[in-house]
Amino acid sequence: TVIVLDFGGQYNQLIARRVRECNVYCEIYSYKKDIEEIKAMNPKGIILTGGPNSAYEADSPTYSTELFELGIPVLGICYGSQLMMHLLGGHVCKAPVREYGKIEVNVDTTSKLFKDVSEKTICWMSHNDYIEQAAPDFKISAYTADCPVAAVENEEKGLYAVQFHPEVLHTQEGTKMLSNFVYNVCGCSGDWKMDSFVESSIQAIRERVGNGKVLCALSGGVDSSVAAVMLSKAVGEQLTCVFVDHGLLRKNEGDEVEAVFGPEGNYDLNFIRVNAQERFYEKLKGVEEPESKRKIIGEEFIRVFEEEAKKIGAVDFLVQGTIYPDVVESGLGGESAVIKSHHNVGGLPEYVDFKEIIEPLRDLFKDEVRKAGLELGIPEYLVYRQPFPGPGLGIRIIGEVNAEKVKIVQDADAIYREEIANAGLDRSIGQYFAGLTNMRSVGVMGDERTYDYAVALRAVNTVDFMTAEAAEIPYEVLNKVMNRIINEVRGVNRVMYDLTSKPPGTIEFE
Ligand code: XMP
Repeated sequence: TVIVLDFGGQYNQLIARRVRECNVYCEIYSYKKDIEEIKAMNPKGIILTGGPNSAYEADSPTYSTELFELGIPVLGICYGSQLMMHLLGGHVCKAPVREYGKIEVNVDTTSKLFKDVSEKTICWMSHNDYIEQAAPDFKISAYTADCPVAAVENEEKGLYAVQFHPEVLHTQEGTKMLSNFVYNVCGCSGDWKMDSFVESSIQAIRERVGNGKVLCALSGGVDSSVAAVMLSKAVGEQLTCVFVDHGLLRKNEGDEVEAVFGPEGNYDLNFIRVNAQERFYEKLKGVEEPESKRKIIGEEFIRVFEEEAKKIGAVDFLVQGTIYPDVVESGLGGESAVIKSHHNVGGLPEYVDFKEIIEPLRDLFKDEVRKAGLELGIPEYLVYRQPFPGPGLGIRIIGEVNAEKVKIVQDADAIYREEIANAGLDRSIGQYFAGLTNMRSVGVMGDERTYDYAVALRAVNTVDFMTAEAAEIPYEVLNKVMNRIINEVRGVNRVMYDLTSKPPGTIEFE
């Protein structure tokens, strides 16, 4: 295992992900993690992340210098590199020239870290401070026009520091540098794979749960399905899954979920479906503000779930299909800021009688969750299902939600998805859906004036759902979707395509 210590940078999970791509298992912990616990884990390597602070300021995040004496290789990145130098006697201060973007870096290719890397290589830089002077016993192994110490090392002690971000794809040979670190410096064998993750997770869950009873909220989405199947493989009959149909699902989705996971399906999940549509619509009446809607849906979901749980009685564990981007954006991912409250992370049932939470996918990105799903034998069509947010169509209908609007957006979205699949684009687009704007406008249909809603089509390409770009869908496909929606869905007289990236937009509309 390699451990990443999080100092609050933007790209921390990317570091873990790149290490896992080298087939080395990797986990992230806050910089507040006690050194004794780190020693007990006996990792093969430690990576210190970037972060927004200045290493020389008194209240900035820091770490015990003992970390550098453990005989475990350490790689400092950006803030992590400055912190390492600051703590070991180098000098870090405000840089006379701030570097931002793709910068040419001259590297010493005799360094273990830069083996097989080009002598001049493009790296992603983003820093205000810099290392003015390396710590004693460190050798400079890279520089740029404005940064005399772009990388330093003490090979004997296995300590390496880079000012740039090897984890970001803009650093053209970054993956090579990280794999050099884990293989050449840390001596990792690179035999970790998704199947070993699945196997070891099942084993760990089995040990943790023992004879305990487990309850899982199944939404039918990829994440909760993978979590549920993993649990069912681990503890079989001890698991009960509750599926709450909140009336904000895609067209026919409730029945589809039941067909796969219910008694007629392939899994042994003790599946319970609750039809709670009306309750949700009632609670959402007159509510327009997105975060309020999320809260209401999240809370109502919990109430319904609790009522079911009460019927089941006390359980020992509650399963959640939380994945990494949920954790980060809800501000629970250690040191980064809250963007929006994801309902599957924020709220927990207060009255469900359970002792502990199991989140088997908490460290994974979506594409990694999909790989795990395939390893678990979940059919491809389910594994490659569109991501769907916990609050469902509730956050794809801008403004107040009601049954009529839900029907409109369900029908429009079903047409859109069908045509995307017909065009063979369903696997290549990261996420796509139709939303309902709160805008009504004047149109003409037949010989009559209409005053109807506008549907907005969204399609984005993304690797990690943290950033995204609008997908380029052929005009004929969009045109066909527009035609069908106008003709087949009552209450719609305009169709628009959203071109916005994330940032500044988000993927969903609310
Ligand atoms: P955004 O809109 O935040 O979407 O750019 C990023 C990814 O997260 C999903 N998403 C949510 N998932 N509860 C969820 O479970 C939520 O409240 C929520 N909001 C967004 C979204 O579908 C996309 O995949």
